[in-house]
Amino acid sequence: MPDGQMPRTIAEMPAQHAAQPRTKAEARGRFFNTGNAFNVVNPPVPDHLFTAEPARAIDPATPTGLIDCDISGILGCACPATSPLVLARYARIRAGETLATDFQASGVIAYVMIGAGTTQCGDETISWDAGDLFILPGGVPATHVAGAEDSVLWIVTNEPQLAFENLRPPAPGQAPTDVVHYRGAEIQRQIDMIYEIGRNEEIAGSALIFSAERQEATKNILPTLTAAMNSLPGGVVQRPHRHNSVAVSLVITGDKCFSVIDGKRKDWAPWATTITPPVSVHSHHNGGTEQALFLIIQDGGIYYHTRAMGFEFCEQPTAEAAQ
Ligand SMILES: [Fe+2]
Repeated sequence: MPDGQMPRTIAEMPAQHAAQPRTKAEARGRFFNTGNAFNVVNPPVPDHLFTAEPARAIDPATPTGLIDCDISGILGCACPATSPLVLARYARIRAGETLATDFQASGVIAYVMIGAGTTQCGDETISWDAGDLFILPGGVPATHVAGAEDSVLWIVTNEPQLAFENLRPPAPGQAPTDVVHYRGAEIQRQIDMIYEIGRNEEIAGSALIFSAERQEATKNILPTLTAAMNSLPGGVVQRPHRHNSVAVSLVITGDKCFSVIDGKRKDWAPWATTITPPVSVHSHHNGGTEQALFLIIQDGGIYYHTRAMGFEFCEQPTAEAAQ
């Protein structure tokens, strides 16, 4: 709207200030209205597939360090972000080398893609192997040491969530989790048990959901984040559904697998990080013969807590995409 012109509707009004502020505190006030600041629409979360980042992470020429899956520019977020509240990264640690991390998060989720090594966090040390998952408390520095071969981890935190509120990580001992370690063999045993016992069609897939002693009541891994190992046998389609949480997933195994998101096909790639946008109608398809495995992190805890998950089964908007 050009300067000096009267707005035609309240939607065209710029932010309003107090006319005659008597204090700095009064001068800081701003006023919007239902025309220009209600049902605010931010840039949508895209159905992005990160493939360059894992390619770098598994490249032997890549030095020890972190590789962010960062689309903060697309999202309009001020700090690195994979989705508005979640940041996923790959960590490459060369054989015998050490990577130190101190994430500005309330908790850290790490999956071992390749290699074996140790992680020290506070006064605890764990030894991990490929296929293991572990959780670390935020606010506690950690050192990760690769063993005799190069190691690659997939690390997810809620750093963007803390950055959104300009919060610091909890003081040592105050994080919502302790160090928690899930061995790959135990994860597989738990998945096998889920298949043995079976389910009905009203249960959304056959995923193993991770929790821990201090989060047992929430049934989550962290207050905001949920972590699930989803499996899809060869030839199987996971029923289309939607929810208000975003999913940031790591493709672990899966040949000829793809998702259909709002009617659009998205092929998976080895070790890719894939975003399933919030509210989108999505289904996962295994067009191969081997069982597919993918680790799904969602900001689901926040929607459970606010009673706003909005889960429902639904139909894909177009059938042709699922060919
Ligand atoms: Fe889903």
